[in-house]
Amino acid sequence: MKPKVLSYVVFLVFIITTQSLPSADAAAPSELREVYDVTGKKVLHNAPYYIGPVIWAKGGGIKLTDTKDKKKVCPFYVVQDPAEVNRGGHFNFLLNGKDNDEKYLLTSHTISIESGSPEVPCDKGSYWQIPNVKAKAPSNFITTGGSIETAVSCFQVMDYPKPTSPKVHSYMLQHCPSFCGAGPGGCFNVSLIIDKGVRYLGYGGTAPFEFVFQKAK
Ligand SMILES: *[C@@H]1O[C@H](CO)[C@@H](O)[C@H](O)[C@H]1NC(C)=O
Repeated sequence: MKPKVLSYVVFLVFIITTQSLPSADAAAPSELREVYDVTGKKVLHNAPYYIGPVIWAKGGGIKLTDTKDKKKVCPFYVVQDPAEVNRGGHFNFLLNGKDNDEKYLLTSHTISIESGSPEVPCDKGSYWQIPNVKAKAPSNFITTGGSIETAVSCFQVMDYPKPTSPKVHSYMLQHCPSFCGAGPGGCFNVSLIIDKGVRYLGYGGTAPFEFVFQKAK
């Protein structure tokens, strides 16, 4: 078997063997709920996780890239790895609020997403941001360069409304600038935006990107 196919099969087996967890359906979207990883364990607040598609057959995990249109960039863009065998980079999801001592990540709660230690250094802030969600590409793409708990770095994790698999908990990200500071009102679904063959995360006004959490070792 080719390695790609093998990894897909392994992942499917993984999903099938973790079906003891409760189904992820039918929750009011605005409820604060604990977030679960692919193994059914609660996702920890401020700990490293990979995020990637439910079925890793259409690309791999989410990672940072220091290159756009063949030029080096800093801050980095947040993209999906094209190879399904790759889990991407790991990121820390932090509930906003000073002295937040929650143990677990929650849905419908504003968060900041921190990029861990990228392999290539870039002296801009390490938090994810959307520089200008209402502007044209690439200002509506997620980049690093943000700071903690500001309007441009304000996100929340939401249950995915119609999960691909009832056996795994899947989620989507929303960018909600006005929940953390002065910015456009409401929430903007984060989706994959394909630009010259590269899959960027950002606000495209299209179907939200459905993903799962996988704990990094
Ligand atoms: C976000 O995505 C969900 C699920 O597809 C959809 O129901 C909702 O209308 C979207 N919200 C906005 C503001 O586009």
